[in-house]
Amino acid sequence: MNRKEFLITCGAVFAGGTILSSLLQGCSTIKIVPGNLSGSDLFVPLESFEIKKESTETSGNVIIVRNEKLSYPICIYRLDDNNYSALLMKCTHQGTELQVFGKKLQCPAHGSEFDKHGSVTNGPASSHLRVFPVIIENKQLKISLK
Ligand code: FES
Repeated sequence: MNRKEFLITCGAVFAGGTILSSLLQGCSTIKIVPGNLSGSDLFVPLESFEIKKESTETSGNVIIVRNEKLSYPICIYRLDDNNYSALLMKCTHQGTELQVFGKKLQCPAHGSEFDKHGSVTNGPASSHLRVFPVIIENKQLKISLK
């Protein structure tokens, strides 16, 4: 290996490490819970959210529900004490599973982005995400999947 090949190899390793690090950082702080399916309703304990009111971080205000009976996970954002948004993590472009990065969901296939309300903020997707109604019942979120 000559000097030029060595520098190219090192550059590729460094770039790969940097990209991997930022990807892991984006996903590592988000809590994943199984939820509890009952008929067409999904129940998630409110305590799943780790509320950090003094912090500006959003990590405690979003969780992912991953249940073997769901074909795609559901991302739940806590908007305030009484309002939550539950979004199907299926890209509306070609169906790739989305990834959560703080206040946005991003598609690893072609880069579409969606906000915490499920609205498209960056294409090529042109339709908003599927949003499920959420109510609070007995210290749990009840998400209607109908
Ligand atoms: S499948 Fe998500 S942007 Fe294409």
